[in-house]
Amino acid sequence: MDPSDISKEIKRLVNLIRYYNECYFQKGISQISDYAYDQLLEQLARLEEAYPHLKHPDSPTQVVGEQPSKAFAVVYHQTPMLSLAKTYSEEALEQFVTRVKRMVPNAIVDFICEPKIDGVALSLLYEKGNLVRVVTRGDGQKGDDITGHAIQCLHLPQKIQGAPSASFEVRGEAFMPKAVFQALNNKRKAEGAPLWANPRNITAGTLKALDIDLVKDRQLAFYGYSFYATSYHCPTQEAALVLLDSLGFATPPTYKVCHNVMDIMAYIHYWAQHKKDLPVEMDGIVIKVNNLHQQHIIGMTAKSPRWAIAYKYQPEMAHSILEKVTFQVGRTGAVTPVAHFTPIPLAGTMVRRASLHNADEIARRDLYLGDTIFIEKGGDIIPKVVGVDRARRNKTSKPIVFIHSCPVCGTPLHRTTGSVAYYCPNKQQCLPQLKGALLHFAHRKAMDIDTLGPKTIDALFEAKLVQNIADLYTLRYEAVNRLEGFQSISTQKLLFNIEASKKKPFDRLLFALGIKHIGETVAKKLALHFRSMDRLKQATATQLLALPDIGEKIVRSILDYLQDPYQQVILHRLEAAGLQFALPQTVDTVLPLSSKNFVISGTFQKFTREELTRSIEQAGGRVLTSMSAKVDYLVSGTKAGPSKLAKAMEWAIPILEENDFIKMIQ
Ligand code: IVH
Repeated sequence: MDPSDISKEIKRLVNLIRYYNECYFQKGISQISDYAYDQLLEQLARLEEAYPHLKHPDSPTQVVGEQPSKAFAVVYHQTPMLSLAKTYSEEALEQFVTRVKRMVPNAIVDFICEPKIDGVALSLLYEKGNLVRVVTRGDGQKGDDITGHAIQCLHLPQKIQGAPSASFEVRGEAFMPKAVFQALNNKRKAEGAPLWANPRNITAGTLKALDIDLVKDRQLAFYGYSFYATSYHCPTQEAALVLLDSLGFATPPTYKVCHNVMDIMAYIHYWAQHKKDLPVEMDGIVIKVNNLHQQHIIGMTAKSPRWAIAYKYQPEMAHSILEKVTFQVGRTGAVTPVAHFTPIPLAGTMVRRASLHNADEIARRDLYLGDTIFIEKGGDIIPKVVGVDRARRNKTSKPIVFIHSCPVCGTPLHRTTGSVAYYCPNKQQCLPQLKGALLHFAHRKAMDIDTLGPKTIDALFEAKLVQNIADLYTLRYEAVNRLEGFQSISTQKLLFNIEASKKKPFDRLLFALGIKHIGETVAKKLALHFRSMDRLKQATATQLLALPDIGEKIVRSILDYLQDPYQQVILHRLEAAGLQFALPQTVDTVLPLSSKNFVISGTFQKFTREELTRSIEQAGGRVLTSMSAKVDYLVSGTKAGPSKLAKAMEWAIPILEENDFIKMIQ
């Protein structure tokens, strides 16, 4: 970068950070995630370090963010209220410990870990035991006198007896307990009002609200974590917390003195798992040197003490700006909208995309481009958009509209009644559907062709060697080997795996075909019941519906698939290639009537003929229509056909009465 670019970049960062500071400290609104804010500050600090002559004298890296608000009296702090150095990395924490130890050589240094509470820092001034003033941190030197507000909504001790010093100052954090925040947002939701993004925003907003009645309704809390007095000094931070507690202040719900990095890490990891159980939002752990004399030796920079650091947890819920929505076509043709937003860290990874599920979801969320959206990790794996802050919507931004034609092949989309998804019906040519079908077919739980991954599929498609799953079985060594990146071994492996897939049992094949709504379990059920593709093809909707856990949606999908001429050709080719179109004998033996052929004749008391047929098939048997040497049993009811009875007797085929049959299947 040339110097003028660097100067411009510094200016840009300074202005941006100032803007966010103003939003946050003056209006109580955070327009940016903490993480992104910290990144901006770090970027600026790095540039200033490399080019000190370009540093602004009042750069946001040098002063604590807030400018006191005009609505309150400004009060100077007796000692500056500093900020804390922050980190998201364990490595930086180790460096902090090493650095601190170096600063007090030949001494044992203990640390105290406390939760970093996500709230607003306050200074409380007591004189002769009486609370006389409550001041916000402000710019670190001076803050707003919010005494009246604080008394209304914080349960602060107002008169204290037995303090070790006539006048003293308590510093700590005002915050809104999670339960209060939740209840408040629930109420707002019911009223259709925009939701508060996090408890910190509302705490800041409440403490500076101009409407005092509003303040009374919002119950906040306060934890003290520092004690300052002119005539009395606590020996350690731990002693300060004990003292605060004895004076009637609430203190952080947990803290621990740690002797080394290992202890500190263990504490951090423990609370990463358990912070959700605390009644207050904690966004990290503050690690402080415990001995206050050592703190004094170690000292501070203009902005923050050198004896403390805040380790911040990466958030599990965060907000970001919706940049665009794209539409993805899945293997079944279903079109899924995907939100793309400014990257943010979420529970350990950077996320930039989240599924918006379907058109209804977009409509329900009423999303506009540029919206501030809230993102959460579902089960900590797939991020999802959980909300939108309509209050911050730009007036000129445009709503997201769902598309009408396939973003890949342009075919008009269909929506079947009762389904929330739109589908691209062009399964014969739409690339993501074709490729997705192959990937699914090759899946470990399907045909298990592990060498057939997305890259190989792309290569095969590009070379026009495959279009569909049946083409896999026509691949020849020479053609594959000619492709870029395919050596002799990889080609052989792929072809070997494809060949081996021909032996995969029928139920796996049924799953691998990728019929909509047919997962592994349903495929297994169908395979066990019908035992072969031929029998499945003959099944009527009623027969399918009679199976447990098979509903109309599945039945419709099976019938559509089997009646589709395109799929019929594929099935025919797969069968000709030698894939398993029926269950192997070994599975039969588990069922009581496996491999037994039955003929039914006459009418029955406890079954209709269909029910009887189903019972036989469910137990693994087959029902034939005419008598032959293949028949194992004749099930005979009233008015059984005389010729069938005669043949059974002639060929010594056992004749079962209705009750005999019931015993047999039991
Ligand atoms: S000690 C010299 N302890 O974090 C700084 N701060 O970014 C003394 N905070 O302004 C602060 N929990 O609002 C300390 N247990 C804790 C804290 C804590 C939250 C806040 C505080 C401070 C900010 C620093």
